[in-house]
Amino acid sequence: MTEQPRPPHQIFQAGSPGHSEVQLQARIAEGESKLPWKLTAIGPLELLELVAQWRPRIESCTDLSQMALPQGSSPGELLLRELLLRARGQWSPPYSEDELCHCRAVPTATVLEAICAGAHTPEKVSRWTSASTSCGSCRKDVVSLLDYCLSRP
Ligand code: FES
Repeated sequence: MTEQPRPPHQIFQAGSPGHSEVQLQARIAEGESKLPWKLTAIGPLELLELVAQWRPRIESCTDLSQMALPQGSSPGELLLRELLLRARGQWSPPYSEDELCHCRAVPTATVLEAICAGAHTPEKVSRWTSASTSCGSCRKDVVSLLDYCLSRP
């Protein structure tokens, strides 16, 4: 008897893989669980405690579009908000090229990680990542990412 292939699981992620990361996995396989989602995290204690608080609500939620999003701006709240927006198909930062600062070769992901970690002003993003520290033409993109990440949809 051949084993039937299992359906692929839908997985959403936010954060830095292996460092400070949250992951939401849809439990698609019938009978696997009564809960529709599995929420996991890797990172500092504050993040793990926040995820533990949100886990019962998120894992039992059958319609994520109706779920209230975390409203704070701590690293964990920003990560969870991004994760839920990704799962809803609503995560769409205003700048999406791989590299944000061409003068300093700073990836957009690095800027997003800095914002999530607490760089909440353009000056702090520049200090932490070196983005926007030469010609300055990318500053508007740093500002737009800050506005997007720190807004509360
Ligand atoms: S493109 Fe970022 S400082 Fe020039």
